[in-house]
Amino acid sequence: MARIISGEETEEDTFETSIRPDTLDEYIGQSELKENLGIFMKAAKMRGEALDHVLLYGPPGLGKTTMAYIIANEMGSNIKTTSGPAIEKSGDLAAVLSSLEPGDVLFIDEIHRIPRFIEEILYSAMEDFKLDIIVGSDSSSRNITIDLPPFTLVGATTRAGDLTGPLRDRFGIVSKLNFYTEEELKQIVLRTSRVLNSPIDEEAAYELARRSRGTPRVANRLFKRVRDFALVMGDGNIDLNITKTALEKLKVDEAGLDATDYNLLNSIIERFNGGPVGIDALASSIGEEASTIEDVYEPYLLQNGFLKRTSRGRMVTEKAYDYLKKNRQDSLF
Ligand SMILES: Nc1ncnc2c1ncn2[C@@H]1O[C@H](COP(=O)(O)OP(=O)(O)OP(=O)(O)O)[C@@H](O)[C@H]1O
Ligand SMILES: [Mg+2]
Repeated sequence: MARIISGEETEEDTFETSIRPDTLDEYIGQSELKENLGIFMKAAKMRGEALDHVLLYGPPGLGKTTMAYIIANEMGSNIKTTSGPAIEKSGDLAAVLSSLEPGDVLFIDEIHRIPRFIEEILYSAMEDFKLDIIVGSDSSSRNITIDLPPFTLVGATTRAGDLTGPLRDRFGIVSKLNFYTEEELKQIVLRTSRVLNSPIDEEAAYELARRSRGTPRVANRLFKRVRDFALVMGDGNIDLNITKTALEKLKVDEAGLDATDYNLLNSIIERFNGGPVGIDALASSIGEEASTIEDVYEPYLLQNGFLKRTSRGRMVTEKAYDYLKKNRQDSLF
């Protein structure tokens, strides 16, 4: 087991890598994306070309990074990875681009966070496989153009809306990842259980799936914790009883809501009369970053009809009042 104090990958990272599917066949759900990508990759291989650039967007933990690695694997290519926040100067991006070999996959995570003035370098790199850079300084500076080998850029973002039009337009394949169904998540849990050699009953797998916010990463995290309970409190086998007990202790409720979700919904009801409330006011009232609410908490609450977005801000729904057993009067006066 990895040591917590080690500066390298944390145990959590190693765990994620070990259970990450590495072929398209093993990737569960997202059937439309899988089907299309399968065809595009096959065609690119038949033509002996690099796959067109791919943009994957959607909430955290739905399998964007996983898919980037699968693309490289299926194309028989090497993958180089970087992220928007890691690219601070144009030289950072130029260095990555000029290190590419023919057919490589370049994965840029959080691509929406590349500074605008650097983003332009990507335009000609993506379109013409050319790298335009300025060398020298002041009076002696001049533009030079370097030819790049054909490569595939795979960009991932939780915020497609934050990408500029010109960048978005240069991706030939743009795909949104959706929340997973309970059945798909159950298959993911069962797969994880096989890979880790920790048996789980089918009904327990379903229970975990139901409470995983439509998100494979959450399903795998919960699996890992429930596995601990099963080991210490039982014989290691994960059954429904252990699963329910563990989830209760982890404060994950029947709908997969946790303490922060409760805090968020209750706050809108109690302090903002059920809404509408602006994202910044809401964020400061529950002590979270606005961007964390938007990227992590809100998508699932919106999807499941607990929350509504209006032009004037967020509002809780009838369903939320019922689910939290709150009286509408509580907030009217
Ligand atoms: N379709 C899938 N089938 C099986 N497991 C999956 C699938 N998608 C994701 N997972 C699992 O969920 C975990 C999280 O996926 P991943 O890291 O790819 O998400 P992400 O979309 O890149 O998240 P983030 O936005 O936070 O970077 C992975 O370790 C992987 O094991
Ligand atoms: Mg990722």
